[in-house]
Amino acid sequence: MFSLYCILFWLVRRILVKGDFDLSGCPSTESTWRYRARSGEKFLLFCDVPRQGLCHKRNLSKKQCSSTVYQGISYSSDIQWYKQSQNGLQPYAAIQNNHPHIIWENNSLQFSPVGFNDSGSYICTIKYKPNPVKESRKSKEMNCFLKIILEVQPKEKTPCMDSVKNELYLLIGSTDLVPCPAVDCEGNLQREDITWYKNGQLYPNQRKAYIDFKEIYYEDHGVYVCDYNQFVNSTWWIIRAVVEVKTIVKNTLSIPIILDPTHDMFTLEVELGKPLILECKIRFGFERNFNPVIKWYVEDAKLNKEELKQENKSIIKQVEWETIHYIAYLKKVTKKDLLRNFICFAQNSVGNSTRTIKLKQKRGVFFIYIIFGTTITLVTILMTSAFIYRYWVEIVLLYRTYKAKDETLGDRKEFDAFVSYAKQDSFDNLDPSFLNEGSFALDLLPKVLEKKYGYTLCLFERDVTPGGAYTEDIVKIIKQSRRVICVLSPRYVSSPAVFELQAAINLALQDQTLKLILIKFSPFRETDSLPHRVKQALAVLPTITWRSSKSIPPNSRFWNCVRYHMPVKNRGDLEGKGFKIFPRICS
Ligand SMILES: *[C@@H]1O[C@H](CO)[C@@H](O)[C@H](O)[C@H]1NC(C)=O
Ligand SMILES: *[C@@H]1O[C@H](CO)[C@@H](O)[C@H](O)[C@H]1NC(C)=O
Ligand SMILES: *[C@@H]1O[C@H](CO)[C@@H](O)[C@H](O)[C@H]1NC(C)=O
Ligand SMILES: *[C@@H]1O[C@H](CO)[C@@H](O)[C@H](O)[C@H]1NC(C)=O
Ligand SMILES: *[C@@H]1O[C@H](CO)[C@@H](O)[C@H](O)[C@H]1NC(C)=O
Ligand SMILES: *[C@@H]1O[C@H](CO)[C@@H](O)[C@H](O)[C@H]1NC(C)=O
Repeated sequence: MFSLYCILFWLVRRILVKGDFDLSGCPSTESTWRYRARSGEKFLLFCDVPRQGLCHKRNLSKKQCSSTVYQGISYSSDIQWYKQSQNGLQPYAAIQNNHPHIIWENNSLQFSPVGFNDSGSYICTIKYKPNPVKESRKSKEMNCFLKIILEVQPKEKTPCMDSVKNELYLLIGSTDLVPCPAVDCEGNLQREDITWYKNGQLYPNQRKAYIDFKEIYYEDHGVYVCDYNQFVNSTWWIIRAVVEVKTIVKNTLSIPIILDPTHDMFTLEVELGKPLILECKIRFGFERNFNPVIKWYVEDAKLNKEELKQENKSIIKQVEWETIHYIAYLKKVTKKDLLRNFICFAQNSVGNSTRTIKLKQKRGVFFIYIIFGTTITLVTILMTSAFIYRYWVEIVLLYRTYKAKDETLGDRKEFDAFVSYAKQDSFDNLDPSFLNEGSFALDLLPKVLEKKYGYTLCLFERDVTPGGAYTEDIVKIIKQSRRVICVLSPRYVSSPAVFELQAAINLALQDQTLKLILIKFSPFRETDSLPHRVKQALAVLPTITWRSSKSIPPNSRFWNCVRYHMPVKNRGDLEGKGFKIFPRICS
């Protein structure tokens, strides 16, 4: 870096000493521009040809000058400033960004404020690219330089100390003026020959000693510079003054508004032992002398206060208000913190607002998972159980259809079931459309169990050749059967058929493979005459209730229940047919 400056310095020296540098393409060959400033004020030098000076050097009349198109230099980052100190004995030295009161930005060197020590001779070098439209023939980039002499005058010398306003606040929406401060300090001034700049650019069509704003807008803020000429000691000087304009609104009348937490006594869920960030978002109305106080503190039950570690997270500035996002840190949340109040305090010149946050222990996520998981599991188990309970019969039948072992093989029994029912008197059968127990036992049972599901039934009337002793025959047949189906009805319990039931019970007690299937065909009352064993059996054995027309279809719940109690037979080809799940329970 240093060597670069050395080379530049050498270059500049050569230019200045020998004067053999081709400047014909540069905006101006006139070498020196003289400026006067007042000490203690903000001041700007542009690396640009001042219009004010240009008019004078070229001896243009006022009219000519105002019609001259100002040729601003399109500045680039290649601008470099050099300074020779006041007495002119030292060489030019590059100005570096190590003076606290001097900065260079874009094409300008800014002094805030300018002091006597800043007097002296300045040079700025710039890579100049002529306007390609106007000077198309030589639109080659070239190195140009400007020499500027700055003279800083003591402020006391000027007669206008009090009236100088280098900083102006303009109320948005109002009508106002921006006066050129230097003008008031000079008595003998042509008040119509001022050049104005705003933010380093020529402010067009403005030649008066003030800029007149009909209505102030926010965008009118900026750095304004006004120049005029003065002839002193047979030399023309450019007198320059800077006005910093800020556009503002009226001071707020309201206390700070805390946007977040949204309400007082806000409860925050926290985990013990974890760090915590407390957030507070506050909106302050505009104040010209903005001096906010923002604090996060913690208050225990005895109202002892303690400030927390805190900082600004972000600040959003708008014209009428600014929002400050302010945060506090807690390294670790302790049990004690659950009993304390965390308070965000905000104050402006109008007053203060606070918001209190209370901490509450958060139930661990793990805990919630366990609760949730357990509930789901329980519900699933319950639902599965209910399903199995309701459809047990169908599940078993389904299982048998595909899997179960045929239990009829090798037991040397002839019948799957012996059907026991009350024999009928012929004159009972008055209504053929009404299904009585006789036709149930003799017609429907064989039709469904034998034809459809392939069981072998024994019906006394049908399958036993008459002649033998009734009781012996019955016992013999029951022994040859795997099941005894009893069609219970009032007539059954009062008829001799009860003997069959009794015999079946006695035989079942000896033969494990013999089982009873009780079908409650119609409601009946147990009579006292019934044998004790029969009463016991009626009380404990499973009973299937006949529900007349609802039970008739072979795939009804009734038949499913009957089949459930029938022996397991692998007649898949017949069993599977017409099988359907009904949501009812066997009874
Ligand atoms: C400038 O122009 C005025 C008339 O417009 C003339 O009187 C004066 O001599 C000129 N000065 C120079 C330095 O050319
Ligand atoms: C001006 O220069 C003098 C000596 O050269 C020095 O003592 C003083 O601190 C300087 N003042 C500023 C404001 O730089
Ligand atoms: C410098 O230039 C940038 C971009 O053109 C502009 O935004 C900024 O306001 C300029 N700074 C000054 C002090 O003029
Ligand atoms: C004009 O020059 C003289 C001596 O050269 C000097 O004393 C005087 O202060 C100068 N006037 C101004 C206004 O600078
Ligand atoms: C936060 O910003 C405000 C407003 O700019 C300022 O007054 C305050 O000192 C800052 N506080 C901290 C801790 O940075
Ligand atoms: C906050 O404002 C209230 C009135 O609203 C006042 O009593 C209190 O003293 C203020 N607190 C502080 C710390 O200024």
